[in-house]
Amino acid sequence: MRILVISDIHSNSVALESIREKFDICFCLGDLVDYGPNPARCVQWVMENKAEVVRGNHDHGTAHSVAVVGDTGFRYLTSVTRPLQWAALDSSQRNFLARLPLTRRLVVDGVRYLLLHGTPRDPLDEYLRRDPAAWAEQVKDQEVDVVCVGHSHMQFELDAGGVRILNPGSVGLPRDSDPRAAYAIIDNGKIQLKRLRYDIEKAIAMNDALPIPDEAKAMYRTCLTNGRLRPPVAAESKSAILENSA
Ligand SMILES: [Fe+2]
Repeated sequence: MRILVISDIHSNSVALESIREKFDICFCLGDLVDYGPNPARCVQWVMENKAEVVRGNHDHGTAHSVAVVGDTGFRYLTSVTRPLQWAALDSSQRNFLARLPLTRRLVVDGVRYLLLHGTPRDPLDEYLRRDPAAWAEQVKDQEVDVVCVGHSHMQFELDAGGVRILNPGSVGLPRDSDPRAAYAIIDNGKIQLKRLRYDIEKAIAMNDALPIPDEAKAMYRTCLTNGRLRPPVAAESKSAILENSA
């Protein structure tokens, strides 16, 4: 079996539809919506491909009208894009998003998988990055072979006390300073982390057409072109900062 593992699409249909991998099953680890320009197309893609999908905090927030706390950074971007997300979905897409499970367990080729967005302790909201000891503590009683997670938008694979932890990274909004779409393939049990160049300018142009503030459009452009919320500090600026702070 060839498994496509995707997460954190965030309404970026251009990135999602650029993935041309052949697969037998798709695991989708949540955050289909918020931030980006085309939630309907992303939700529809996941529905049509019969993905094994779990709920992310942004799916939950959009489907259940959770108030956004905070007005800077990604919270600002969430607050100005969220009202557009629900409005863009038809009734079947809304029902699909609202009923996503928090976790999924399944066995493929004899391998026991647990799918979730955050962590076993808090599937919706807890961030846990590349920390084998912390992951080992969380998965020691789960009785699985592989735990597939998203949420941090950081692509990694690690061993946590004999359990593989796989984060495929973010398809639509990477935050690891690599703007290429991130995903993973599991081919007959072997994990491959993948990055893919796609038409970022097309996604930005779609976003620029939305009725959102120019500040939000600029923030989205920065995220997509740099793979992070802040542009990288240039070498010249770095030395200036060091001189000024000395
Ligand atoms: Fe996310």
